[in-house]
Amino acid sequence: MHSKNRPCAADVPPAMDAEKAARLAFAHDLPLSRHHFVEGEHPVVRIEHLGKTFTDTPVLRDVNLNVWNGEIVVVLGPSGSGKSTMLRCINLLETPTQGHVLIRDQEITGASGASLSLLRRDLGMVFQQFNLFPHLSAKENVVIGQMKVLKKSRAEAEAEAMRQLAAVGLADRAEFKPPQLSGGQQQRVAIARAVAMHPKVLLFDEPTSALDPELVRDVLAVMRDLALNGDMAMIVVTHEMGFAREVADRVVFMEGGVVVEQGLPNDVFDHPKEARTKEFLGSIG
Ligand SMILES: Nc1ncnc2c1ncn2[C@@H]1O[C@H](COP(=O)(O)OP(=O)(O)OP(=O)(O)O)[C@@H](O)[C@H]1O
Ligand SMILES: [Mg+2]
Repeated sequence: MHSKNRPCAADVPPAMDAEKAARLAFAHDLPLSRHHFVEGEHPVVRIEHLGKTFTDTPVLRDVNLNVWNGEIVVVLGPSGSGKSTMLRCINLLETPTQGHVLIRDQEITGASGASLSLLRRDLGMVFQQFNLFPHLSAKENVVIGQMKVLKKSRAEAEAEAMRQLAAVGLADRAEFKPPQLSGGQQQRVAIARAVAMHPKVLLFDEPTSALDPELVRDVLAVMRDLALNGDMAMIVVTHEMGFAREVADRVVFMEGGVVVEQGLPNDVFDHPKEARTKEFLGSIG
């Protein structure tokens, strides 16, 4: 018997062979991304036929997407198109009902226990609402995961926390607690916390949507720095079109639980192929 939430072997073929999948993904994505592809490279995230149904409502229907080491992918799409659900499936905050998510060729969909904890270390997430511990200082928010999950000593974790807080321009706010910080500062602490874990892939779910307009710029600047100087892949759900155009290696447009169109930022923004992409870009532009 299988659990309703687990991918069902009878319904879904197994994930593709890693070598074959990497070859196909390479050929598919090469013209669609500014990523500097290396011959023989494997994607860091591989999403195959991903489906998620809540009770009777299909929210993701056959999502296929690869993300490469260090690649910056911006995901656009109307409200309810399944963007957050896709990120939450990659991070295993939701269990897919169909298909596969692989991180560095390791299947996370059926993983459990120790192997799941190891895979989770490859992934970080930055949420719209920051999700900081309100009773802990900025520094302690960045320290805690490093000690608990990475088993670092307090001294090591604090040194890394101070490095990351400095990188987001908040060295002088290390002892402040979240309620004493602006929303933009809180989000920068949340980014420092995620980066301090040195994930392979950092997921952002509308990281600037809860911020007053004057605070958005600082957070985007931090993300731009990370994108240009970091070695992490980033999957960023955002409505910040300027950021997408400038920073993204690839733009992915989702609607109705599928990837409708993807490509180089200038191609998708200036010459969208699909009517639904045109309509969406027209509605927000
Ligand atoms: N836990 C849940 N139970 C039932 N339905 C859900 C659940 N989570 C999401 N949904 C539904 O799935 C659909 C897609 O939601 P999702 O949050 O992924 O969209 P989104 O593209 O992130 O939208 P937004 O831009 O508004 O954040 C919505 O119709 C939503 O109501
Ligand atoms: Mg969302």
